[in-house]
Amino acid sequence: MAIVDPSPGSSAQVEAGRAQRVDVPPSPAAQGAGIRIEGLRKRYGSGDTAVDALKQVDMTVAAGEVVGLIGPSGSGKSTLLKCLGAVIEPSAGRMTLGGEMIYDGGWTIRDLRALRRDRIGFVFQAPYLIPFLDVLDNVALLPMLAGRPNAEARQRAMALLEALDVAHRARAMPSQLSGGEQQRVAIARALVSHPPVILADEPTAPLDSERALGVIRILNRMAREFDTAIIVVTHDEKIIPTFRRIYHIRDGRTHEEAGEGRSIE
Ligand SMILES: Nc1ncnc2c1ncn2[C@@H]1O[C@H](COP(=O)(O)OP(=O)(O)O)[C@@H](O)[C@H]1O
Ligand SMILES: [Mg+2]
Repeated sequence: MAIVDPSPGSSAQVEAGRAQRVDVPPSPAAQGAGIRIEGLRKRYGSGDTAVDALKQVDMTVAAGEVVGLIGPSGSGKSTLLKCLGAVIEPSAGRMTLGGEMIYDGGWTIRDLRALRRDRIGFVFQAPYLIPFLDVLDNVALLPMLAGRPNAEARQRAMALLEALDVAHRARAMPSQLSGGEQQRVAIARALVSHPPVILADEPTAPLDSERALGVIRILNRMAREFDTAIIVVTHDEKIIPTFRRIYHIRDGRTHEEAGEGRSIE
């Protein structure tokens, strides 16, 4: 895996509020966990009308790491997230999630619904909270559906709401929350099953600068705390400087580069 420049930033950069780039290698337990994508391809349709949406996608995200995925409209970002989320089937290549191969020229696991439910958290641009459930039950719903006792599911949900500073809104309805609060609840919901992977599609687009950075700060903290690998699809200039590593996607091909890794603590 490529590593960003480990040398500390110049004193001028540090004065400008940028973090020194310190690379912490993943813990041995986390090695091989996270996400690994190799030679992934996706063709929609066939014959004359076929569209090769992904031509060569190679990507690794360590457990505990947040990477940015940036590319123009039509470059394949949504297709890639849908493949990773087991919503559509790739055409070739390999994908490993949380240390387990899930696709190797074909799905290698049988229960894709369980994969989506237990191992992948989604955060979207709009929070998509369920309007007739209060905040606590919005977050507790997934573990309840997965068969956890209600009390345990709510306890877990509450712990995450506390970590995200929205526990005081636990009994409010989604419509009573601000946009920033709703997005934090959506992040709590994505994290509640402690999935090894979170896929975030433009999670900060509707937010102002301070709240956008707040969301990224929380995602970084959650990644470290739960050893989660997080991919953030974005073209939000406010948050791009925070990534240490960025994958650019253009015409179905990925290119990796070091990001600024600006401190947001
Ligand atoms: N269901 C589909 N059938 C055929 N072509 C598709 C489909 N979905 C996306 N595409 C095409 O695949 C390419 C990548 O699209 P997409 O992954 O949505 O890109 P992005 O999210 O970066 O805008 C585009 O050329 C798009 O038109
Ligand atoms: Mg898209």
